[in-house]
Amino acid sequence: MVVNSTIDVLMNHRSIRKYSDEVPGEEIIETIVKAGQQAAFAGQLGSLILSRDRTKHPFTAPLYFIICVDINRMKKVMEKRNWELVSSDAAMLLFGVQDACYLAQNLVIAAESLGLGTCYLGFVPFNADNMIKKYDLPSKVLPLVGLTVGYPSENPPVRPRYPLSFACYEGKYPKFSDAQIETAMQIMDDGYLRQNYYQDGKLMIKLENDSDDPYDAANYSWTEHISRKWGQWLKDPEEFGNMMRKYGFEI
Ligand SMILES: Cc1cc2nc3c(=O)[nH]c(=O)nc-3n(C[C@H](O)[C@H](O)[C@H](O)COP(=O)(O)O)c2cc1C
Repeated sequence: MVVNSTIDVLMNHRSIRKYSDEVPGEEIIETIVKAGQQAAFAGQLGSLILSRDRTKHPFTAPLYFIICVDINRMKKVMEKRNWELVSSDAAMLLFGVQDACYLAQNLVIAAESLGLGTCYLGFVPFNADNMIKKYDLPSKVLPLVGLTVGYPSENPPVRPRYPLSFACYEGKYPKFSDAQIETAMQIMDDGYLRQNYYQDGKLMIKLENDSDDPYDAANYSWTEHISRKWGQWLKDPEEFGNMMRKYGFEI
């Protein structure tokens, strides 16, 4: 693999969930936000809300960003030119999620290159009433994801990923063989088991159907964990639709 300082930062990424007391200075904050903004965009449809009250943040991180899909701001700009935004909420959401994600990830890479640690918090949007009240969100602003930022006070190992052949396909989408799927699962599961990730972090998700659990610290790993999420949670599309409507998106 080719290595330079940028690749080095990317390949050493780990989510950080323990932070030191040191608070990043203003110049650092401005730099990482500007680097975030410099990401490619479809329409600058992402924006950030910064909070500095670490007592209220996940992992008591010194900085907490809420990364938003911001269609409200786009509408306001267009209104100045007497344009009405007529693209569907679903289409705007698709582009807005992209803009917000690229912004966020540019910010993360910049932060990590300066010695900071970060962690995304994915359940932020699912608490619509609280989010709208707490951050005074107008219609058509979706708080997509939270992001803690600060100097690490832990040094976790780099987490495993699927093998390259299971992530990047040549020319067309493959028909996966059983062996290919099982190999990829094994790489993930062995990797996380070696790090005691779920045991040390007490992260095991319970079965919701009260059946006997055949998994314990010895064999509960990534595949079981991710399957228990997407096999048990967020089943109701109506609930999702209601949440999006609260944010002003008719999906
Ligand atoms: C959209 C998204 C949501 C996430 N939500 C959470 C979360 O709620 N809590 C948490 O501790 N980590 C969360 N993470 C971090 C992931 O757990 C982490 O990125 C993944 O386990 C891979 O580990 P690594 O980032 O250390 O490589 C989230 C990451 C993403 C991209």
